[in-house]
Amino acid sequence: SKGTYEFYMLKEIDEQPAVMRRLSQDYFDGDDVKVDPAIVDAMAQSDRIYILAAGTSYHAGLVGKNIIEEYADIPVEVGLASEFGYHFPKLSKKPFFIFLSQSGETADSRVVLKQVNERNLPSLTMTNVEGSTLSREATYTMLLEAGPEIAVASTKAYTAQIAVQAILAKAVGEKKNLEKAKNFDLKNQFALAAEGMQELVDGKEKIDELAKKYLSTTRNAFYLGRGVDYAVALEGALKLKEVSYIETEGFAAAELKHGTIALIEKGTPVITLINDPATADLTRGNIQEVESRGANVMTFVAKDFAREGDDVVLPQIDYYLSPLVTAIPAQLIAYYASKNKGLDVDKPRNLAKSVTVE
Ligand code: F6R
Repeated sequence: SKGTYEFYMLKEIDEQPAVMRRLSQDYFDGDDVKVDPAIVDAMAQSDRIYILAAGTSYHAGLVGKNIIEEYADIPVEVGLASEFGYHFPKLSKKPFFIFLSQSGETADSRVVLKQVNERNLPSLTMTNVEGSTLSREATYTMLLEAGPEIAVASTKAYTAQIAVQAILAKAVGEKKNLEKAKNFDLKNQFALAAEGMQELVDGKEKIDELAKKYLSTTRNAFYLGRGVDYAVALEGALKLKEVSYIETEGFAAAELKHGTIALIEKGTPVITLINDPATADLTRGNIQEVESRGANVMTFVAKDFAREGDDVVLPQIDYYLSPLVTAIPAQLIAYYASKNKGLDVDKPRNLAKSVTVE
């Protein structure tokens, strides 16, 4: 039940530190990751991972690609299930498929899995729903353990998908005897993430103020980021669109100047995410470009790169896992933008919780 919450979405945002702790318990043995060895073996043998999903789960896959390539050292391709299903790319010699789906029922993903099975290729479904169709039809399953997600807009399943992909990446990297994977202190990172999420959740009033100040009347907005922040920018934009109806575009920070910057005018809200050490300074330059054209810039910045005047300081964790914390203010600002307009946050128009048509 919602308890004292007005909407499930906020309850589910608030639950994320607890989900991280649950995953820490269930997928670890002491400090070691604990994953079904059959899954680890199958994936470690693969020369390319294909991640298929839709919507928010697709965005979690974009983050997962970065984590898996870094810690398991296997190339990853992320596909929109709806596109992939009818236009299979040329596959590698030893493909391994990962289906990300909160519900486990998404028709677009089922179309792909059906063909994967016809070709007798190995697959893994990461889902929140035990016994769901995608779980039953895949070779393997890993559960997200996020607990029931009721709000139409996905929040805790997104961060759980990132976390479970990280668990798998570490397990596979260790199996391949990679130093990077062995030295990746994931248990500690999960503790830092849970703590950081809690800090951000506790500071939610600040996000409400930002939403009131910048998002109450605007018709459009932008999200900018580079690296994994670009992936989170896409997700932040989707969240804001679907619950507040503000037309929002997630953009690679440096790409805006190649055309879309023409849309920036006085008062255009631009949320900028900075966690990437390689590009933090460059993204500051992109902020200046939009600010000088009148944009209202909001900055969500990792502690190490934060400057005076940044709007949200993100607790510092491993760059590849930073989406776990960046997601919180991105989800909260969508929530408040919607609630402050008096909308039904949990049931945005035109949407259903699970999409069982193609
Ligand atoms: C957005 C949202 C959708 C789902 C998408 C896939 O907040 O919830 O974009 O992520 O429909 O659903 P699942 O993960 O159930 O396959």
